[in-house]
Amino acid sequence: MSNEAGHVTGEDAVKFAYWVPNVSGGLVISNIEQRTSWDIDYNRKLAQIAEANGFDYALSQIRFTAGYGAEFQHESVSFSHALLAATERLKVIAAILPGPWNPALAAKQIATINHLTAGRVAVNIVSGWFRGEFAAIGEPWLDHDERYRRSEEFIRALRGIWTEDDFTFRGDFYRFSNYSLKPKPLDPLPEIFQGGSSRAARDMASRVSDWYFTNGNTPDEIRKQVEDIRAKAVQNGHHVKVGVNAFAIARETEAEAKAVLAEIIEKANPEAVNAFGHEVKNAGKASPEGEGNWAKSTFDDLVQYNDGFRSNLIGTPQQIAERILALKDAGADLILLGFLHFQEEVEFFGKRIIPLVRDLEAKRAKARQPADAAA
Ligand SMILES: Cc1cc2nc3c(=O)[nH]c(=O)nc-3n(C[C@H](O)[C@H](O)[C@H](O)COP(=O)(O)O)c2cc1C
Repeated sequence: MSNEAGHVTGEDAVKFAYWVPNVSGGLVISNIEQRTSWDIDYNRKLAQIAEANGFDYALSQIRFTAGYGAEFQHESVSFSHALLAATERLKVIAAILPGPWNPALAAKQIATINHLTAGRVAVNIVSGWFRGEFAAIGEPWLDHDERYRRSEEFIRALRGIWTEDDFTFRGDFYRFSNYSLKPKPLDPLPEIFQGGSSRAARDMASRVSDWYFTNGNTPDEIRKQVEDIRAKAVQNGHHVKVGVNAFAIARETEAEAKAVLAEIIEKANPEAVNAFGHEVKNAGKASPEGEGNWAKSTFDDLVQYNDGFRSNLIGTPQQIAERILALKDAGADLILLGFLHFQEEVEFFGKRIIPLVRDLEAKRAKARQPADAAA
């Protein structure tokens, strides 16, 4: 689909999301200066800047304790609601952690926010990587694949509660008997995202999630993941869309952008980066395949929580726009972005890079037309 300007629209246009900085310390484990704040005033303004500059979604984070930075953390669902109340079009994805949340509470909370915000709230069901956090709040720490088995039941229960009357469910983790949630969310239902890219995470995506979020990576590696989950999803009669994480550093010259990356890494806090790497690698090693989201992450990668440098959106606006198209070609439907100085850089990204992406998409669509017509 395209609009009057020839720009690709709707499902065909790659979507943009930004990480809500609702925890302190930003998105990199580094002592580099960051003009970003986790407070609500900063975040309300950021959300307004994002929706005025072409962003579709904001993703909030759930953390219960500090660890490797992130000393202060606002809760994700209530914070997401505040951002929705301050905006008109932006969709906000609230992160939810099975364990502390159960599906009855989440379904009710999100259904209410859905009504209060004309359907703009979505959820990100995260399965957890931070054992110390679970210990601190007295939550049992399940084995890796058990965490995903619980998340899958959580998602099935959430969708069941949202769509059925007299919902009855007999799972290993959750049980419902003739439960009728009223009111149900508005149609269409809140979208269900998930974070995680281990075997168990992918299999869950291919069965139940609307969206699969994965850590930053090269187009080739993203393509492999997409082919894997889409092939499985087809077998399950399911369709899943893909969001890829990236940390963007856009500057007028590539040299400037690369210098910023070098400074982030040079000023990284090695103890915190190594401790974070140890924690996340251990969380993945407990999976049957002994891997997980961060299996191949180097020290430099781990300076950004979700391998965002690997997506290489670091350079001039034109270079970044072209690399986004390469990720889209590999199967990405959405690019999730972190920045050093969020307000300034979200605006710059929206004004300078999204229009280039739309132009490139339009050129591609035009180039494809004759072939399509001949087919
Ligand atoms: C985009 C994205 C967002 C995430 N957000 C959170 C979060 O807010 N809180 C959290 O504890 N974990 C979060 N995670 C971590 C995942 O839920 C999961 O525990 C992690 O990716 C481990 O995946 P694995 O099983 O593939 O190794 C996020 C992951 C991704 C990719």
